[in-house]
Amino acid sequence: MPYLVRSQRALLGRMVRHLLGEGITQFLDLGSGIPTRDHVHEVVQSVDPSGKVVYVDIDPHVVAVGRDVLAGNDNATIVQADFRDHDAVFATPEVARLIDPEQPLAILMIEAFVHISDEDGPAGIVSGYRDRVSTGSYLAISHCSENEDLLAAYQMFERMALGAPPIVNLRSREELTSYFARLDLIEPGVVPIHLWRPESDDEVDRNPDQVQMHAGMGRKL
Ligand SMILES: C[S@@+](CC[C@H](N)C(=O)[O-])C[C@H]1O[C@@H](n2cnc3c(N)ncnc32)[C@H](O)[C@@H]1O
Repeated sequence: MPYLVRSQRALLGRMVRHLLGEGITQFLDLGSGIPTRDHVHEVVQSVDPSGKVVYVDIDPHVVAVGRDVLAGNDNATIVQADFRDHDAVFATPEVARLIDPEQPLAILMIEAFVHISDEDGPAGIVSGYRDRVSTGSYLAISHCSENEDLLAAYQMFERMALGAPPIVNLRSREELTSYFARLDLIEPGVVPIHLWRPESDDEVDRNPDQVQMHAGMGRKL
């Protein structure tokens, strides 16, 4: 689990750097968790101090701590909202202040769907954002795949924070791939997270075929 958490944060950094290289300067991070070390705003603002970042999380504790972390940062903020409702997210004053929906932006959904049920329809949530953003925007998604050991580990890990076993939804690589419908899926497609555009100091030699977390990035044409 620590390896996967490290790998996931490294993936986030690579994705954000790739997006910056593509000229993206505004980022909406759905299901962000607390914006701790190496999170989106640190990566963005180390390259472009004027880059804009809005974190979205439903958990009031996450948002309260996040506000402390981001205090004094005029170009990054966190808002409490339910990302299943894209209208509600875009209606928040924080998003209205920092994000220009007429310009390309990046929507990040890094392990955001693990607590979202099939009834809530992750594919529909993704397509709602896809249809709403301007041409040239990107959607980046990672998701845990179906694996019993990963499920047990995830529940143990989450229980430390939540006190009770949370509902964890694992989904196949094929299902994750289907979320990129009507987007230009950029190279290397949907792959184990540490094989998504690895950089020289990434740990890529540790059972890459067994890592049951996948990621991909699509561009709206
Ligand atoms: C596994 S954590 C995500 C980690 C984070 N994206 C990262 O890269 O470290 C999932 C987060 O999604 C949040 N979340 C779950 N359901 C949500 C919803 N419907 N709307 C907004 N946030 C939600 C949880 O509070 C939690 O902080």
